[in-house]
Amino acid sequence: MKPLILLFLFTATAAMAADIERGKTLYSQLCFNCHGPHLDGGIGPALKDQYWHHGSSPEAILRLINKGVPGSEMIAFEAVFPEADRLALRDYILSEQEGLREVVRSVYSRDYFKGKRFTPALFDSVEPESQTPLPENLYYFERSKEGVMRGTSKLYIKEAGDYEFAIRIIGRTSIFLDGEEVHYSDEKTDKSTHINKKFSLKLGIYDLEILHEEKPSHSYRFHGVLKSDSGKQFALNGRSLQGNIPKIIKARPGQALVVRKWIADLPPRALLCLLPNQVIVVYNPGDGYVIGAWHSAEINQTPSLPDRSAKPSEIKGTPIPDAGPNAALPGINRFLRYQVEGDTVHLVSLADGEEKTVIISPKGAQSFKLTVQ
Ligand code: HEC
Repeated sequence: MKPLILLFLFTATAAMAADIERGKTLYSQLCFNCHGPHLDGGIGPALKDQYWHHGSSPEAILRLINKGVPGSEMIAFEAVFPEADRLALRDYILSEQEGLREVVRSVYSRDYFKGKRFTPALFDSVEPESQTPLPENLYYFERSKEGVMRGTSKLYIKEAGDYEFAIRIIGRTSIFLDGEEVHYSDEKTDKSTHINKKFSLKLGIYDLEILHEEKPSHSYRFHGVLKSDSGKQFALNGRSLQGNIPKIIKARPGQALVVRKWIADLPPRALLCLLPNQVIVVYNPGDGYVIGAWHSAEINQTPSLPDRSAKPSEIKGTPIPDAGPNAALPGINRFLRYQVEGDTVHLVSLADGEEKTVIISPKGAQSFKLTVQ
């Protein structure tokens, strides 16, 4: 099996490797502060987890670097840096990817597939009823969805080795890797007809297709992982590619923490100020309002499927009455920066032409103090 050759990535030439190195250097100068030292997020989202707001394809990542996101801290780098730099940045980000990307779920009507062995060519010959990109980059079906599922994706492999799929056999499933059938199972047929190949993967990007059908009465969730001999595992469904451990974010003792996560009903730019007394204060840098606050609170970055695309992260805690929305800094202001000093968060804006700082610190076990300087 050959890895799909994408010229900008993983090619063995020294020049390309140098570009990724160069991308890494540029990243540490330009992006590090917002996206974290290991691309694991901060003010900006993580750039190597499986969740992408704006798309995980090479084209989508480059477009984002070029154009930025108007109205957010993510500026358009097109105007500021030459193309070679922007390509090197994209290639560095791509070189850090692992597991599934660009997952698209298509649903087909059942009748056409009755009694026919699933192949990509068979699916190509009919139109799907729906086609949905899944930003979580996991395979799953909507509950009680009628139909046959085709999931297409790219599989990024960073560690060469022998791999195989472990699939819980429900309904029938065929898996194709770069067009080759590596798994076939059907709960209605004799196990001896099933296929589950072991295969070697090199560093590279592969086309992965999962073709799947279950009884209509089922919850219709695909169950499987891709495992390597060295113990690496990629979940094809469930919570996370890096194991199934939900990620809970809270402040450490004595040390406040500011993060920005996509939370339903909060503006995308909202800053979540996590105080060491487990109070979370949500500040909108766009208009200088405290949107609300919670005590005994933490952020759950991985609420369960299937509604993750509507609600990728959540604040778990008890709302503090009357905490917001309150204007901390009324007037037109332009957010400049935040700083954390011990248990205190400083949010600095230009308000009416002057630098003003909103200071948020813990008060007691379940509250916070806010002053403006
Ligand atoms: C000042 C902070 C800041 C800097 C510096 C910054 N970003 Fe961003 N970036 C953000 C924010 C905030 C978002 C989310 C924008 C939104 O969706 O509202 C973002 C989004 C992105 C996304 C899209 C992520 C997704 O989930 O789809 C990519 C890719 C990205 N940035 C790459 C970069 C690269 C590469 C650099 C360095 C050249 C960089 N960023 C520098 C703040 C920053």
